[in-house]
Amino acid sequence: MRRLRPYFTYLKTVRGPIVAAIVCGIIYGASSGAGMPLLVSFVFPKIFAPVNPPRSLGVVALIAAGIPVIFLLRAVSGYLNSYFTQFAGVRILEAIRLDYFRKLQVLPLSFVQGRATGDLISRGLADTAQLQFTLTLIANDGIKQPATLIGALVAVGVLAFQSHGVWLALVCLAAVPLTVFPVRYIGRKVIKRAAQMQSQLGSVTSQFSENLAAAREVRAFGLEQRETNRFAAACRQLIVSQMKITKYSQALTPAIEVISAVGIAGTLVYAYHSGLKLDTFLALIIALYNSYEPIKKLGALNNELKRGTASLDRLEVVLNEPVIIADPAAPATVGRLRGDLAFEGVTFAYRADEPVLHGVTVKIPAGTVCALVGPSGAGKSTFANLVPRFYEAGAGRVMVDGLDVRALRLADLRRNIAVVSQDPVLFNDTIYNNLLLGRADATRAEVEQAARDAFAHDFIQSLPRGYETMVGERGALLSGGQKQRVALARAFLRNAPFLILDEATSALDSDSEAAIQAALKKLVAGKTVLIIAHRFSTIRDASLILVFDQGRVAASGTHTQLYGTNPLYKSLYDRQQMGM
Ligand SMILES: Nc1ncnc2c1ncn2[C@@H]1O[C@H](COP(=O)(O)OP(=O)(O)OP(=O)(O)O)[C@@H](O)[C@H]1O
Ligand SMILES: [Mg+2]
Repeated sequence: MRRLRPYFTYLKTVRGPIVAAIVCGIIYGASSGAGMPLLVSFVFPKIFAPVNPPRSLGVVALIAAGIPVIFLLRAVSGYLNSYFTQFAGVRILEAIRLDYFRKLQVLPLSFVQGRATGDLISRGLADTAQLQFTLTLIANDGIKQPATLIGALVAVGVLAFQSHGVWLALVCLAAVPLTVFPVRYIGRKVIKRAAQMQSQLGSVTSQFSENLAAAREVRAFGLEQRETNRFAAACRQLIVSQMKITKYSQALTPAIEVISAVGIAGTLVYAYHSGLKLDTFLALIIALYNSYEPIKKLGALNNELKRGTASLDRLEVVLNEPVIIADPAAPATVGRLRGDLAFEGVTFAYRADEPVLHGVTVKIPAGTVCALVGPSGAGKSTFANLVPRFYEAGAGRVMVDGLDVRALRLADLRRNIAVVSQDPVLFNDTIYNNLLLGRADATRAEVEQAARDAFAHDFIQSLPRGYETMVGERGALLSGGQKQRVALARAFLRNAPFLILDEATSALDSDSEAAIQAALKKLVAGKTVLIIAHRFSTIRDASLILVFDQGRVAASGTHTQLYGTNPLYKSLYDRQQMGM
């Protein structure tokens, strides 16, 4: 319970419904725990004990009417209790889910990339649902059941004491404390299995999502059977853990029922021994039965508490992860940046002690078109990704306009940068809306101009629905080259002082690429451009070329300078020319 305390703040936002649920729960508890047995002890003697003259039917009906009245009270309060609890529950679920989702938006890219998507989804959907269930169950049964239990125990005590004094009361209640043992034992068993089950649910989800994302590869490599087998194995493991939870949690009710039967038998024996009247005995049994009901429910609550804790552990992996890439406490105020870029002794590693950039120092003045070349894996994309602070430099500083990128508000920094990544993603929306993501306040004319510059306008116009065409998830309904041109247009529209193009034209034919090159010349005037391309036609005209080799900038200069002096550059260039 202490473990969940920080999350009780979620209950605060639904204070009204929770209070209503609790009040109804107490009424429910009192009416079912104490109300019914006391009624039985009150009504039955009135009806069955002989009186002179006999009661009229009307009076008997009036007395008997007490039973439906109590049941009505119990029904209405029980219903309202469930309704308000559910209402509070879904609101809490919404809040937890949103917090989880919000957190995923601001965590470093490396956090999300290092984990299975499906597992993160499963935490956000299944584990939040479990936590919601647990919290509302606590809010609900945590009040209602103890209220019922106390009511019933009071009724047992009063009834027993009235008829035969302290001893009968003690005999009746002797078995109640015994129920603690199965509750605790089973609770301990459940928590371990619950953690296992939630993580297996995560792996089922992630296999599902990985499979769908690789639909093409599955068919191309004939992996249908392998994938099905893998999925079947994951499902089977999930079922095994589910059944282990079932095995333990379902044992609780029978265990408590057996203990309660022992209690009732003991009462029976003592009742015979002390000559208890039938109506007193009946009332006692009902009260006793009503006190075991809440114990069963509290035991189940304990199980859910354990499951909630297991889910919470999984959610906290995300919720408690520090946001290391965050706004500084006192950010520098910047508007539109000029476009100076400098790396000062920058070292970077995705995984500790495996650096992929080693002390990179370069100066790129505003307005430079800078090409990054080098073998695959040399660190070009990594270098470019440090500018918008997608990752945090280990040692050294990345500077824009003479300011450390860490001194700027992230939003201010990123507003000044337009990126076309190596593997651009479009959202499942219309082409127009995807373009608008570049700059939300752009006019229709500006959007179309950007599309023209990216050589995308004509193909968009030729689609049956034009700019209103839906592009599918991640842009799957467009060709590779079309998707790239839309991504380029989106970046052009942003009109930012920094433009980063990572293989942004790799999927285009040489004609379209040449056309885009021409457009670029006009677009990039006064902007700082980092361009990564394997085609040297793009690179030759750059005013600065950085040659990357194994995480270092091995050389820099213009094409003519480098071709004569740098063997790596010369070999990369020559090989490309030969391929053409
Ligand atoms: N998200 C990541 N997590 C861990 N390691 C990574 C990640 N991205 C890249 N790397 C590693 O960092 C090194 C540099 O990768 P980078 O993507 O910067 O190369 P690149 O020069 O852009 O190559 P290419 O021309 O093939 O795109 C590679 O060894 C790669 O394996
Ligand atoms: Mg790359």
